[in-house]
Amino acid sequence: MEIIAKSLTKIYDGKYKALDTVDLDINLNGIFSIIGKNGAGKTTLIRILSTQLMPTSGTAILNGHDILREAGKVREEIAAVPQEARAVPWLTPIQTVTSYLMWRGYTFSKAKQMGLDALRSMGLENLENQKNRKLSGGQKRKLMVATVIASEASIIFLDEPTTGLDYISRKELWEILRKLKKDRLIILTTHYLEEAEVLGDLITILDKGKIMDSGTIGDLRSKIKYPFVLKVYSPQFDIEMKNGRISRVSDNEFFIYGSESEIYSLVQDMINRKVRFTVEEVSLSNIFENLVGGGEED
Ligand SMILES: Nc1ncnc2c1ncn2[C@@H]1O[C@H](COP(=O)(O)OP(=O)(O)OP(=O)(O)O)[C@@H](O)[C@H]1O
Ligand SMILES: [Mg+2]
Repeated sequence: MEIIAKSLTKIYDGKYKALDTVDLDINLNGIFSIIGKNGAGKTTLIRILSTQLMPTSGTAILNGHDILREAGKVREEIAAVPQEARAVPWLTPIQTVTSYLMWRGYTFSKAKQMGLDALRSMGLENLENQKNRKLSGGQKRKLMVATVIASEASIIFLDEPTTGLDYISRKELWEILRKLKKDRLIILTTHYLEEAEVLGDLITILDKGKIMDSGTIGDLRSKIKYPFVLKVYSPQFDIEMKNGRISRVSDNEFFIYGSESEIYSLVQDMINRKVRFTVEEVSLSNIFENLVGGGEED
């Protein structure tokens, strides 16, 4: 599956630049995860790629079809759950999924069977005939995801699908997305950086409408100054570092950021001091803070 974006720019109200010459070249069966602060432009980008919003300039090509000239063809390839998507309150889950699939061109009996399978895979099988308005917030989100996973679309857009889901439900959805991604491209936005890190085969960081960086978690990590962290669990701690950064995280925790060689050179010292410690590669949240500011490694 393929998405190519060329210089996508969106200016709202003639003045506010929400997307600024965004280029993408995604050729992937898997999960492409977009992260960025509130207002970074994630939803704007997804709405443009899924033909719900016109760019001010630039264009994109999805599986060979141009969003400006062949929007109809693009729509046959894609399914999207917008950030603000809400289930129709007076329908039931099975009616919701079945009607969506019939609208996509499936017969009633085929749509119903596909709908039941999708609801079962989202753990909603016992709620299929309950009115949507009686579902919890998380169950409603799962229903929205069930509708798109039921479709056989090859490119799926999920704008913050796990916001509001409890920890277990989120993990369940991760499993479903992992199974689903084998022969599809899933474009996923999330504010849970752990989720972007474990699910994203490729990750892109958007800030103020511009792409700051893209790649695998390893690619992103290799570009930052301090890719390793030594976590020391001790109430008192003093150490001199030439290159690196020490931050006290709590009364009993110190995190030391540095290059791989700097961090490993400290290990013997930790053993001698008899303190408890771990050595890890930094997480996506460290990389994110490093790239878009707001802390840690500035
Ligand atoms: N319809 C609109 N009219 C005017 N400005 C808009 C409109 N939609 C979004 N914006 C502005 O464009 C910017 C990007 O918004 P967007 O919704 O794409 O951000 P986002 O990254 O999805 O944020 P969030 O994480 O909060 O969902 C924001 O500053 C927002 O205020
Ligand atoms: Mg958004």
